[in-house]
Amino acid sequence: MKSYDVVIIGSGIAALAAANKVAPFKKVAILSKYGPFLSNSMLAQGGVAVVVSKEDDVSEHIMDTLRAGDGHCDKQAAEFLVKRGPNTLRKLIEKGMEFDCDAASLKLGREGAHSHRRIIHAGGDATGRKLTGFMMQQVTEEAEWIEHYSAIELVIKDGRCSGVKIMNSAGKTEIIWAEHIVLSTGGCGNLFESTSNAASANGEGLSLAYYAGAELADLEFVQFHPTALAGDHPSSILISEAVRGEGARLITETGKGIMENHPLGDLAPRDIVAREVYRRIQQGEKVYLAINYVKEFTNEFPTITQLCKGEGFDLNTGKIPVKPAAHFHMGGIKVQQTGQTSVEGLYAIGEAACTGAHGANRLASNSLLEGLVYGEAAGEFLRRQPSLQNRHIDKGDHASGTKRAKSAMTLQELKKMMMECAGIERTTQKMKWGMEKLENEFPVLTDKDIYAYHPEVLAFLHQVTAAYLIIKSACERKESRGAHYCLDYPDKKGEWDGVRIVQKLDKNLDWRNKKHEQDESKKDGRALFA
Ligand code: SIN
Repeated sequence: MKSYDVVIIGSGIAALAAANKVAPFKKVAILSKYGPFLSNSMLAQGGVAVVVSKEDDVSEHIMDTLRAGDGHCDKQAAEFLVKRGPNTLRKLIEKGMEFDCDAASLKLGREGAHSHRRIIHAGGDATGRKLTGFMMQQVTEEAEWIEHYSAIELVIKDGRCSGVKIMNSAGKTEIIWAEHIVLSTGGCGNLFESTSNAASANGEGLSLAYYAGAELADLEFVQFHPTALAGDHPSSILISEAVRGEGARLITETGKGIMENHPLGDLAPRDIVAREVYRRIQQGEKVYLAINYVKEFTNEFPTITQLCKGEGFDLNTGKIPVKPAAHFHMGGIKVQQTGQTSVEGLYAIGEAACTGAHGANRLASNSLLEGLVYGEAAGEFLRRQPSLQNRHIDKGDHASGTKRAKSAMTLQELKKMMMECAGIERTTQKMKWGMEKLENEFPVLTDKDIYAYHPEVLAFLHQVTAAYLIIKSACERKESRGAHYCLDYPDKKGEWDGVRIVQKLDKNLDWRNKKHEQDESKKDGRALFA
């Protein structure tokens, strides 16, 4: 039996930042399903938003963050994020992380809704890869890596999270015990058909936390990035907002700018630009990013250049066809500044967490910053906690479920459905349709029996749960705000100011129970997993 002081599930920037702080002092394991090279952090093209210039000020970065968050940010959380930014950056540079420079100072890029140039990059548009690589070097020797295992269940003993059941690709399961478990499982973009996210970002962490009894907040706020490469590609390719920061413009097929009516033009907040691109495409138009306005595009954006060429796009045409793609989840597992969730011993950081800092719509390049700042804060907190007490370690009755099943809905169908009912423009009718569909397709699954299934089936069930909870929150918010846009309630409403939709498993009232009881008689015939 393995036991640790801290087990971190996930290996993106937040996980590494936390591990860096705690691993020199405690027995730490990093559980990484796909290995350290597959995460949203690795893919991040945009940089880190941080105040370093004399012309800039943290108060203005805070103001930009709050404005983009559309009146829904937790102000303290946003202030904590922005104020810790410069120091976090300074320490990284002192340790040897190299960011791009102009002459003697850091090169500062611009992105949507920022009032100043304040985005720092590494390797042009390869910031995530460079930063992840750098942080991995710092942490590798101090923490134990458990790769190619996925977390399938959090073990709760006496109300405390005490371990995690893990499974390898052959379906073999085991439990690892820990005093503290940190979910750093990333976002949920892969629940949508069009996404910029890594395959690992599929909302499973939300469901793990939900079934462990933790509170989830703001799930309705899913950010769509306006400019992913359009067309059918096996992989999702983002065209960074930094490209517009350097002058690129969104245009129609005839070359007319589509953001001309907004005071911030092509650098308007991301939700507004994404909706404009979406509407045009819905009306049958094509939208392009005109890159001929950018000086030395291929030098400035080597990763994008390579990715587009790899897909056979000729950049000499001066324009790239684009479409919106699910990009970032502002909602997540509700946490305090230390990463603590509402369940003792369970923590969440990075995109899986909801600190409240981003409100209803995240400001560009505040996410790597959040991973660094909040990951470190959790690591610092964990470092101060007592070491392993072995209080829960037992052989216990943790046998895995055995039910095997044939799926009536594929992941691809789920993703298509999410796009339709919880995408850029939502309607009450579609959201209700989506919820009912899942309730009908999954009648046998309650919190009590989800773990009766064979571990190999569980990952998809966790994705279904995350999808359902997102639609449910979206359906409950009877207004439009930030990234949540509902055609039935197109305006922001004062009565929803400061209202956060929080979801928590009620063992007696799980979302599937009602349907479960109704469908008991036909459960074998109609169940998704029969
Ligand atoms: C981008 O490069 O456009 C994405 C950056 C971000 O999501 O903050």
